[in-house]
Amino acid sequence: MIARLLAKKTGNFGRWRAVARKMDQFSGEFEKLVDRDLRKRSLALRYRANSGEPLDKLMPEAFALVREAGRRYLGMRHYEVQMLGGIALHNGCIAEMQTGEGKTLTASLPLYLNSLTGDGAHLATSNDYLAGRDADLMRPLYDGLGLTVGVVQSNTPRPQRQKAYQADITYSTAKELGFDFLRDRLLLRRIKEGQALVLDSLASDDDSPAESKPVQGILNYVLVDEADSILIDEARTPLIVSSMPGGSEESIEALYRWSAEVTGEFEEDTHFEVKHKPRAIELNAEGRKLLRSLPAPEALNLFGMIDIYEQVERAILVSREYQKDRHYVVKDDEIVIVDEFTGRLAEGRKWRAGIHQAIEAREHVPVSVDTGDAAKITLQDFFLRYKRLAGMTGTASTSATELYKIYSTKVAIIPTNKPPKRKRLPDQVYGNAEAKWNSIVESIREHDSVGRPVLVGTRSIDKSELLSRKLTAAGIEHLVLNARHTADENAIIGQAGQLNRVTVATNMAGRGTDIQPTSDVLELGGLHVICTEMHDSARIDRQLIGRCGRQGDPGSFQVFLSLEDDILKEGFGAERFKTLKKIGDGTSRRFDSHASLFRKAQEKIERNHFKARKQMLYVDKQRRKIQVQMGQDPFLESLG
Ligand SMILES: Nc1ncnc2c1ncn2[C@@H]1O[C@H](COP(=O)(O)OP(=O)(O)OP(=O)(O)O)[C@@H](O)[C@H]1O
Ligand SMILES: [Mg+2]
Repeated sequence: MIARLLAKKTGNFGRWRAVARKMDQFSGEFEKLVDRDLRKRSLALRYRANSGEPLDKLMPEAFALVREAGRRYLGMRHYEVQMLGGIALHNGCIAEMQTGEGKTLTASLPLYLNSLTGDGAHLATSNDYLAGRDADLMRPLYDGLGLTVGVVQSNTPRPQRQKAYQADITYSTAKELGFDFLRDRLLLRRIKEGQALVLDSLASDDDSPAESKPVQGILNYVLVDEADSILIDEARTPLIVSSMPGGSEESIEALYRWSAEVTGEFEEDTHFEVKHKPRAIELNAEGRKLLRSLPAPEALNLFGMIDIYEQVERAILVSREYQKDRHYVVKDDEIVIVDEFTGRLAEGRKWRAGIHQAIEAREHVPVSVDTGDAAKITLQDFFLRYKRLAGMTGTASTSATELYKIYSTKVAIIPTNKPPKRKRLPDQVYGNAEAKWNSIVESIREHDSVGRPVLVGTRSIDKSELLSRKLTAAGIEHLVLNARHTADENAIIGQAGQLNRVTVATNMAGRGTDIQPTSDVLELGGLHVICTEMHDSARIDRQLIGRCGRQGDPGSFQVFLSLEDDILKEGFGAERFKTLKKIGDGTSRRFDSHASLFRKAQEKIERNHFKARKQMLYVDKQRRKIQVQMGQDPFLESLG
């Protein structure tokens, strides 16, 4: 078993160190180059990659260039362990590099190298904030080497998306990359199915032809950050794109409402023609021009022009053909069809093809958005479509076997640059939640009174707010970071490492966030992290703890638990949970010796999740086999 596991981890360190030394030889020479010549060297490398020289051969020089650009433009020279990490990532491994070791900087190495062929390199991370942050941080480095960087976040308009994908390197989230893949698929299908004509004419009278073309390009190389979260925990999340491209329920509703509002602007013959059999409206060039000039809400940015044209055409049709109190009535905020034969209300019946919704929008009642799945893919299947896949995270080794089975990627454990100095204070276990929260408040007060910043991780928005109320009552100043308070995410994280800062956060601050303690704070012992509960997976706990003691800095953390914590119920079932709860009920006694119980519960949950994933993997494989036999695309569900 151990031998098998080892085979899935990899340790080509001897060979890799030799390569890293080769890179060192370039350093002296590159340091002397002026900026312009450094860039020239980089572009020469690109030329060689384009002429077919294998990337493996270019790696030493490429990595040395990136290292020099890091030193020069970011004030950070890649450590040797980061060079090793870069080699692992270029070789398609999942690199386990501890939290705070500088994976953001490390990523620049393989991303640069793999973008040289011109087919693009993608970085997939777990949220918009990290995608934007990392692209911004690394931009000066890529700039210096003559490469372009793009960012795709969930609110990025379509034309900008296309541009971002055309850049040499694109930073985005796993989800957005997957969604764009699906949207492109749908578009291509529509082109194939005869709407190509529409698209051709569109290209000639449309000043944003971006709408009629796929945005994403080739799936060449992808580096997945927070790889365990994305490739394991989220792997089975299906991404679903509705037949209305553009996406979410809110944006679709916005489109319906806006279209209903603007119908009055359009005049027959000037802006549109009326077609008979079937009755339809078609905007002409003038009409499309007018439409593009109208102010529209931001949510519409997510749609292609062609969808907006169609929607407005539908809205005009509805405004001409469907009359209130003749064809339908409005009853309790719903549109009810009047049956034209019986004259009675046909409750529950709906017009199809978006007509019903267009009427709802026009009558200002809630729009019953039908997202009708058109295409669907899991993140796992999506990432398997890339020619080359690599990943990095602080917590991979415990999932090495699973990662290998699904993605054929090996885990490379990269040593830390400096020995870690993070200190663990003894776990505290309380009989009930109330007692636990009270002593958490006291513990925060203690650390705060000496000036140390404290980061408190909670398992849900509710709990973050519960604690916030308790802190306010106790007169402890603090900031809250949860999905309800995201606007200041940058600012909150930016301050979280300063003297006397108390930050209460959900998992939002769990992965990837880089809290930088000031030098005063480091002298006091660095950031202190409080875990208020254990999570379903130890990896998530380790990620939270990893916000302190980064880069070999001092830092400490402590775990607070109670016999009422959810994890005991999830791990041991309701019966045993009840018994435990009874023991703890109402007592102020401590149960610190029970701490190992929580780890046992966690292990049980982890095992159950693992089993469930294994089962699904098996089902997946069977499904794919059948699809291949039927000549279907085995990685794409229900497209069509
Ligand atoms: N070579 C370097 N020289 C100086 N500072 C560095 C270097 N590499 C990384 N750092 C600093 O280390 C800190 C942590 O980096 P980063 O956030 O990339 O870590 P990480 O490995 O991604 O952590 P996490 O697992 O939490 O996401 C950052 O503040 C970064 O500026
Ligand atoms: Mg990171």
